[in-house]
Order: sequence, then structure tokens, then C-alpha cells
Amino acid sequence: MAKIPEDVIEEIRSQVNIVDVVSQFVQLKQSGKNLFGLCPFHEERTPSFSVSEDKQIFHCFSCGRGGNVFKFIMELQNVSFPEAVKKVAEMENISVDDKYFRESGHSQTSAENTQQKELIDLHEQSVKLYNHILTNTKMGQPALDYLHKRGVTDDTIAIYQLGYAPAQRLLKPFFDERKVDFQLLRKSGLFSEDQDGHLRDRFVDRVMYPIRNGSGQTIAFSGRLLSTDSDMPKYLNSPETEIFNKRKVLFNLDLARPNIRSKDPAILFEGFMDVITAYQAGIKSGIASMGTSLTEQQIYDIKRITHEVVISYDGDTPGQKAIKRAIDSFNEQKSNLEMKIITVPDGMDPDEFIRKKGADNFKQLIDHAQAPIEFELSYLKKQYNLDSEVDQSNYIAEALKLISHVDSSISRDLYLNRLADEFSVDKQLLQQQLAPLIAQPAPAPARQQYKQPVQVAKQPKHFSLVEKAEMQLMNRMLHYHDIWLKVSNVSGFAFVDDQYQMLYLLAEGYFTKFDDYNVATFSNLISEDSLQSLLVDIDMLELPDNPTDAEINSYLNILMHRAPVEEKLKKKRAELKQAVKIGDVDKQRELTIEIVKLEQQKRMKQQV
Ligand code: UTP
Ligand code: MN
Repeated sequence: MAKIPEDVIEEIRSQVNIVDVVSQFVQLKQSGKNLFGLCPFHEERTPSFSVSEDKQIFHCFSCGRGGNVFKFIMELQNVSFPEAVKKVAEMENISVDDKYFRESGHSQTSAENTQQKELIDLHEQSVKLYNHILTNTKMGQPALDYLHKRGVTDDTIAIYQLGYAPAQRLLKPFFDERKVDFQLLRKSGLFSEDQDGHLRDRFVDRVMYPIRNGSGQTIAFSGRLLSTDSDMPKYLNSPETEIFNKRKVLFNLDLARPNIRSKDPAILFEGFMDVITAYQAGIKSGIASMGTSLTEQQIYDIKRITHEVVISYDGDTPGQKAIKRAIDSFNEQKSNLEMKIITVPDGMDPDEFIRKKGADNFKQLIDHAQAPIEFELSYLKKQYNLDSEVDQSNYIAEALKLISHVDSSISRDLYLNRLADEFSVDKQLLQQQLAPLIAQPAPAPARQQYKQPVQVAKQPKHFSLVEKAEMQLMNRMLHYHDIWLKVSNVSGFAFVDDQYQMLYLLAEGYFTKFDDYNVATFSNLISEDSLQSLLVDIDMLELPDNPTDAEINSYLNILMHRAPVEEKLKKKRAELKQAVKIGDVDKQRELTIEIVKLEQQKRMKQQV
């Protein structure tokens, strides 16, 4: 990639609101001046990640990461600075001269990226072709009739770009005509390979549902048979490819995300027809996993955008089982999500329910969704024959285990009362059995296995007097240009710590180009991670307005007089230790005298 000029970078940065970008990945809540959320860079239960809209920077006081919008994308998606600039520009639809973003080198990652782009491109072309066949041809008519009969409207067909793969094969000749590389076609998953190595269309006589990734690009298909009387699987999915991993995909995440973020809870469905029907009925925050039980990655993705999820699986027995599994998965990940459970009546699936009873009735179900414990208790009850006394006492023992996981003691008491009433047992007896269960620590959370930049939070830093002075002085110099001028004119002035001295030099460069200080702009000029975070730390300091001369002088005094004495003291003390170790008595005497002198100097300076 060509080097992107600084003014182009700043142009993009200034057109973007960091809050918009971050909130696509982190749920933020206003608190005071800043917005807070769970840090996306490490596991945490209480928010230590903040975004300042004024300053256009983010900062986590737990792991210490911080920087401007580009830095956020670099960290989150593990990309280089120019790539982050490009991504941010794309995200916010800012047009940038293409020449800066054109690929040059042939590093492995860019080769991979190119291939992924080509694969996505094949999919996008196939989407158009299948959709055309469905909506505009005679061949597609039976499939169109099928969808209409299911109540799918033409609008919905257009939104989801549904299609039809006809009985006669067409994708292979279509791409052959366009001279698409054979190996690329092979890797696309759109074809199956016969024994002679010939590629044939994988999807034949199926209604085609494009599967999109979180950015809205089509990466796979699922094809449904028009009638389920054959012994072929009802839905046929693309195989795993370089761009499609079904464990990572949440169907409809791209369309649902803005709605989930703004107001609605995420509604988790089992099938993507449920999602589509709900969307068509105006319930637009539905997502679904791809016919598998929920994976860690999927839970992580849900957790990043919301704190509330409504599980809405099929009302039949397998559906109930799947709900139980989903609750367990969410719990295992200690996901801190508020879960609610819908049980769709009469064994229907949500798609059927919405079509038969309407969206309003479905919204009623959402409003009356159960807490997980309620669901689990009634699910548990179904496993026992409560006419038998043995089963009764087994049920009670298992129910107490479930109740022991409820966080609130008031709620626990409530369920205990219910249990006591239901089986006419003494509540105190139940309480006695419950107590030791609560005392037991929960098993350690399952470690995250997927590749996310998970890091252990750093301990909050403890600052020495000198560091504090450096930090505060730097803050003042950056924000008040008269102080900058004053301090930089003090002869012999330098910061004690190399990091600060480095920032000082970079800031000098910044002020030759810009008159006003803006932390997010300055941030563009800093490539080193630790300096970026340091800059953000400095900027997050809460100092009173209008610094006095006395304040500045006290920093200068610490940095120019006390700090050097302290440095010398440290060195002499280390030397003394060494002298003691090797038994050099003369040296010990000499050093002791020097140290005493230095300590005297230090005391005198403290009194100034
Ligand atoms: P369902 O059988 O509940 O799907 O499977 P559905 O949405 O109700 O389908 P319709 O209404 O009959 O068209 C739930 C999900 O399981 C996956 C699909 O992702 C489906 O959405 N599945 C199901 C498959 O992958 N293959 C199958 O053969 C069946
Ligand atoms: Mn169905």
C-alpha cells in the first residue's frame, strides 16, 4: 500500500465519530462526560473501557490500551495502521482516493485477502444469478410460488436476495464463460467434485438463502428443497471454506446489529426462516446460528453488542432441549447477558407462530418471556414422574441446585417458597439443604478458545512523584500553548523518562503543523503502542482549568532538581550494595558519605 499522507489520514479521522465506530463492537452507556462499556480486549465483568466523544479517543483503565479510532480498529482486528485507516473510511462511507489503498507488496496476508475477496466476489455474482432465476424466469416460478405460499413477500425476497438454483446446472457454465480460475471455483464450495475431478453445481433444484457475514458480504449459501418428501436433507449448506466457518456465523447479524444496538434485545432463533419471517413482520433484531448449537465465538459476538438476549427456539421437544443447551452455554461463558426464554405454544416454531398468530402475539411472547431459572425448573420437572415419591425428592434436590445459582437472595427465597408450597415440605428444611450449595464456589469459567485478543488485565499503575509530575506537566504543555512555550524555553529542560522525552519531541513536530492541540490528531503521528497509551493516560487526567505559575514551577522543580538527585541516589545505593557484596570496605565508606550528602540535598530541595 502506498503511504497515506498525513492530511488524508486526519481528514478521514475528523469526519468520523469514534463513538459510532466503537459502538458497532461494544455496547456503550453514557456516564458523565464519557461513554462506558466492557473492554473488547480482555474479559471483564465491570466496564473499565471508556470512550470520550469530546476527545475522540478510547481508553481502558484496566488493560491500559488507548488511542484514537484507527488505533481501536488496529487493536480489535489486528491490522496495520494503513489497513485500519482504510477500514474506518469504508465503515463510514468516506471516499478516499483509491491509489493510497492499492495493494503493492505480495505479503502472504495480502495474497490471502485477495483470494478471500475473489471468493466473496464469486458468491456475490451467484447471489445475483440465483435471484434473477427466481424472480425473472419461468424456471424459477415453482420456487417463487413456494415462497409466496410460505408468506414470503417480494420485498423480503429482495432484502434477503433469495434465489433459486434450477434443476439444470448453470453456475459452472456461467463462470466458465467468464474464464474464472478452476482452482478458485474448487475452493468456493459452490461446486462438488466428481471422481474425475470435474466440478458440478452443488446446489440443484433448491431455494437459495445467501448467508452473509457480519459485514453483509455473502460467504455461503443454504439451499432448501421445494418439497421435503425426498430423502435428501431439507437444507444443504455450503461446506467450510476459506471464507465460511459455520461456527462463526450468525445469520442476519449484519441487518440486526443496528436494531439490537439501538433498542431491541437480540432474539436468537433456531432457523433462518424464523429470522426472515420475524424481520418481515417488523421484528428486526433476530439472528440464528447455522443449525448447530451455539459456539463460544457466536456468544462472544452477541455479548459484544448487547446485554440482553431472548432465546426463541422451536416449541417442540428438540427445541426445548436446545434451549437448555443454549442456557448452559451462555452460563458457562459467564457471559453476563440477561437471558430470557420464549416458549412457543403448541410445538410451533416461531416462523409458523408469527404467520398464524401475527407479529403482535409474538411480541406478547417476548414481553412475557421467562427468566432462565423458570424455564430450567419447568424443563427439569418434565424429566420426572412426580407421582413417585423417589422422583419427587430427586427433583427437589436438582431444583435446589438450580436455585442455588440464582444471584439474588430475594429471588432464591421466592423459588424456595414455591417449591415448599408445591410439595408441602418444610421451607426451613429446604433452606438447610440450599445453604451449602450456595457457599460452593462456581466452577472456573471455560477458557476462551477462539482467537480473540484476550489478555489478562494489567494492574493499575502506581505512579512515583516524578512520574506524576511528568504526566501532569505534559498534560498542561499540550493543552496550554503558553505553558508549552514557557517550558520549552527553560534552558536545560528535559523530561526524566525517555517515554516522555520522546512524546515531547513528537509534540514539537505536531505543533509545527497544527496550532491547536487535539489528542486524536496527535495520536495519528505516534506509531509506538506504549506511547499511544501513555498519551491517552496523560489526556485522561482530570486537572482543574487554568494552571497557575506555581503549579508549573513545582513540576519543573521536581523534574530538574529533585529527580536528578533521586536518580543519583538510586545509583549510589546500588553501588553500595555491590560493594558490600564483594567486601570492598573503602568503597563502602566512600559511597556512604556520598549518599548522606545526596540525602541532605534532597531534603533541602523538598523544603524549597
Ligand atoms: P428447522 O428444520 O427448524 O428449519 O431447522 P426451519 O427454519 O423450520 O425450516 P422450514 O421452516 O422447514 O423451511 C433449523 C435450522 O437447522 C438447519 C438450518 O440452518 C435451519 O434453519 N438445518 C435444518 C440444516 O442445516 N439442515 C437441515 O437439513 C435441516
Ligand atoms: Mn419451520
